Amino acid sequence: MYIRHRGAAPRTSAGGLIMDEKEHMKLTFDDRNSLNFWYPLIADKVLVPTTMYVNFDKWPQRLDDISDDDLDLIIEACDQLGYPCFMRTDVFSGKHNYERTCFIESEKVVKCHLNELLNYSSMCTIVGLPVNSIVIREFIEIEHRFKAFEGLPIGNEIRAFVREGEIECHHYYWPKASIKFYGEYRNNIPRDWETELDEMKTYCEGPGWEEIKGVVKEVAEIMNTKNLHNVDIYPSWSIDFAKGNNGKWYLIDMALGDVSYHPSHDPNHEEHTNRLQAGKYKLFKED
Ligand SMILES: Nc1ncnc2c1ncn2[C@@H]1O[C@H](COP(=O)(O)OP(=O)(O)O)[C@@H](O)[C@H]1O
Ligand SMILES: [Mg+2]
Repeated sequence: MYIRHRGAAPRTSAGGLIMDEKEHMKLTFDDRNSLNFWYPLIADKVLVPTTMYVNFDKWPQRLDDISDDDLDLIIEACDQLGYPCFMRTDVFSGKHNYERTCFIESEKVVKCHLNELLNYSSMCTIVGLPVNSIVIREFIEIEHRFKAFEGLPIGNEIRAFVREGEIECHHYYWPKASIKFYGEYRNNIPRDWETELDEMKTYCEGPGWEEIKGVVKEVAEIMNTKNLHNVDIYPSWSIDFAKGNNGKWYLIDMALGDVSYHPSHDPNHEEHTNRLQAGKYKLFKED
């Protein structure tokens, strides 16, 4: 199978997904993408934001689907972690609409952001995304140079891919083409943002990566351990890290690697060559 790698889910030379759509959909909805699955496996081994979650028996699609008791629990969790805090579902944060979704600056906005978060979540995929829980997290002041989308800090973040216990590759989290400015941020685009982004990319792919490489290997090994929670292990994972203003790297997110956004590879990079040699994919000339 010829696989073209162009900065998204891996695709074949014909432009299709490397797996058929049914398999892709099945993996997108696989429970192992849920924070409820991966977080307990790594939380006491690596640095993570303190995390609380409220679980549901039935996926809520809108605010009305959440009982008053559960709503109270969500607000209580926010109060306990303090403000600002970060709110997401077990698989999705609505980060592109940051100031209306995951960024919770005070108790006053919890309900309204929760409503927006569920709205955006229900608009991903034709049937929406699963919502097994609402997750409230300690807010990490991410080391950043500017804000994009609707106020999301764009900073030092790394996405690593691991497979069968080994590190496969790593990327700066924010490809240039993914950065957009919405709403009021559109009228106030930082003049030097592209240079800032390039500098962060250079830092994250070089010295930043050296700082977290060991932890990534540890997580790779954990995820390759048989009988994890009596669930089948999955061979490939994406693992995301963000660097706080305090100089510490936090593991913030994970998902099945084969259905995670995969930034394109620099053809001159060693990891890229390794992947080619391992037969993971063959490069086609970008058109
Ligand atoms: N605890 C946190 N505190 C502050 N910002 C966060 C926190 N967790 C995530 N972020 C920011 O929000 C973005 C999206 O978070 P994430 O949990 O990975 O959701 P998604 O899977 O929707 O991308 C991250 O890339 C990071 O910039
Ligand atoms: Mg994520």
